[in-house]
Amino acid sequence: MIDILTMEKRWEIGSEFDWWDGLTTSFPSSTLLPKYYELFSTGTSVLLSLHHHIKPNGERLRLHLPSFFCMHVAANLQIVFDLCWYRDLPTEPTPDFNSLHPLPGDCVLAVNLFGVREGNSWRDWLTHHDDILLIEDHTHDPFSPWSKESTAHYAMASLRKTLPIPDGAIIWSPQNLELPKPSSSKSCGADQKLTAMLLKRAYMNGANISKETYRILQIQGEEQLSHETNAGASTFTTNILNTLKISELRQRREANIRQFLRLNLAINHADWTPLFTSWPAGAVPFNIIVVCKNNEIREALRKFLISQNIYPTVHWQQPYKEIFSNDSLAINLSNHILTIPSDHRCSANDITLIWEKMTEFSHQRYLLLSHTY
Ligand SMILES: Cc1ncc(COP(=O)(O)O)c(C=O)c1O
Repeated sequence: MIDILTMEKRWEIGSEFDWWDGLTTSFPSSTLLPKYYELFSTGTSVLLSLHHHIKPNGERLRLHLPSFFCMHVAANLQIVFDLCWYRDLPTEPTPDFNSLHPLPGDCVLAVNLFGVREGNSWRDWLTHHDDILLIEDHTHDPFSPWSKESTAHYAMASLRKTLPIPDGAIIWSPQNLELPKPSSSKSCGADQKLTAMLLKRAYMNGANISKETYRILQIQGEEQLSHETNAGASTFTTNILNTLKISELRQRREANIRQFLRLNLAINHADWTPLFTSWPAGAVPFNIIVVCKNNEIREALRKFLISQNIYPTVHWQQPYKEIFSNDSLAINLSNHILTIPSDHRCSANDITLIWEKMTEFSHQRYLLLSHTY
């Protein structure tokens, strides 16, 4: 008892989720989920299983991907799909549909980049392209108005990117098509990641656990998950999903992003600008996203924040392992962009601190430059 009271909590923001009891509620969040859906271990396994569902004999399919996308996922999709790229940049409100040329029978992946997009342009596009298969990727905001009003053949989201679960991705069909089914096997990667989530919470609470202990489990678990092709979601994810406080988690995330943008209005930072400052009503952006003036500043800011126990991410670097889109603008943006953690784990004070640290970074750089010249 005394030990718990005297344990000093640790502070860090971002990186992988941890688990604590306050994340659940007795009011089910099932109303947020589609009526019929299937749960897989990962978003990639959803897309690979969808391929198998459409082409059970293993025939390859063409898949059109946005030029701004996760190249790690693209690398795994290449196993069964021939990839084509169309221009879609998160700096623009809609994709460049003139760069999208699917043939009849092709699959097209429409992505709600950073959760700030509206679905109208894809809905209109689909009405003129009834000979292709449209799959929407709602990973960055699985519960947006677009995801609820989707008219696509299939819609999916890797839920584990925004919800505190060790694995889990959802697929549903707005057109009521038959869904691919996961296999009965579960990924042991999810068990490793759940253990890591629990150990991380103990570490954050001040327990005598080394960070390395849970980091190794996170990395090994992620590696295992990245090889899954059709595993179902873990028992933990399947059971906890309906009890998560999804609405509250979303509200916290949105409030955090709004707060950061409000703070940022006061000072015009030369080193970086927010990628977006508004989003559709009812939507919740993925995180705070900033675009740095150049790659050197992005890397310096990233390292500075890590030194302050704030863990930003790059969504998404390309080339990655020799995979890249054919879009020089997307490649250029991938060198400048930085995701600042702003999910449910951040309090209003944390957001103020993150913003102050980013401001401190700019001041330090300015002082350094003014001494150099
Ligand atoms: C937009 C998007 N879609 C799909 C995926 C694939 O999800 P998973 O990592 O669960 O396979 C990712 C993963 O990064 C993603 O960012």
